[in-house]
Amino acid sequence: MARIVAGIGSSHVPAIGAALDNGKTEEPYWKRVFSGFEKSEAWMRKTKPDVAIIVYNDHASAFSVEMIPTFALGCAAEFPPADEGWGPRPVPVIKGHPALASHIAQSVILDEFDLTICNKMEVDHGMTVPMNLLFGKVDKNAHWPCPVIPLAVNVVMYPPPTGHRCYMLGRAIRKAVESYPEDLKVVIFGTGGLSHQISGPRAGLINSKWDKNFLDNLSKNPQKLVKIPHIDYMREAGAEGIEMVMWLIMRGALNDKVDEVYRFYTVPASNTAVGHIILANRSRAARKSAAKSKRPAGKIKRAAAHANADRVRS
Ligand SMILES: [Fe+2]
Repeated sequence: MARIVAGIGSSHVPAIGAALDNGKTEEPYWKRVFSGFEKSEAWMRKTKPDVAIIVYNDHASAFSVEMIPTFALGCAAEFPPADEGWGPRPVPVIKGHPALASHIAQSVILDEFDLTICNKMEVDHGMTVPMNLLFGKVDKNAHWPCPVIPLAVNVVMYPPPTGHRCYMLGRAIRKAVESYPEDLKVVIFGTGGLSHQISGPRAGLINSKWDKNFLDNLSKNPQKLVKIPHIDYMREAGAEGIEMVMWLIMRGALNDKVDEVYRFYTVPASNTAVGHIILANRSRAARKSAAKSKRPAGKIKRAAAHANADRVRS
């Protein structure tokens, strides 16, 4: 059976991709950002997922204002990088996983989440930047380390889905993955945010207190986050802060209790707060031994965390 082993939250700031593509990663401004993902890259190399599901939003690359699906699942065999105005990013074409994607579409739609099925789709920085941050720089003629299933979410035109709807979709995706017969190790990304506003009188808004609180609750108390209305994201995290609802799809796809493997936060990167978190589902062995153990709760928790071989929390 396939299983989701971990969730990754990551900003997808386009300037990070430009810095990487233009050889600026060693400049002090960008080194501060990229160095925060070094441990994440190491974690990903060790985890070696078979498939990644990446929740992101399209920035008028695959869809225009003429047609914006609320949730669009990429079921194609490959997804070329989009031309976002200065040519496609020099990254490899992303290979999909049509069999698992179609299975997710069937399971989730029969669970009454009405996804749009995309059999042809270009993907933009919303997806490729987090891929670079977690998989590292990959030469245009090389291959990404695993196939990817894109899930595009509308957060660019009102009304975007609620945080609760996103969280419940994550639950449905988990159920879908766990009913797929092949033994696959799956990771899921939630991307976008954190607080930022790119235009208007509040352009440049960053709210670190809000962001850190969001990360704390994402890890320990996601139910608090699913109740946040759109207006609070707008008010507290800026107009584009609404992208953070996509992280709730990732969180909903994980177990209720997770181990926080790693976290990184820095401001600013091109007027945006950069946030990153890795949350791991506890292994079955760790859950079993914790349930059987008669030891006090604190010791059980430490044992479960210890049993997670992938834990690299700094
Ligand atoms: Fe975005």
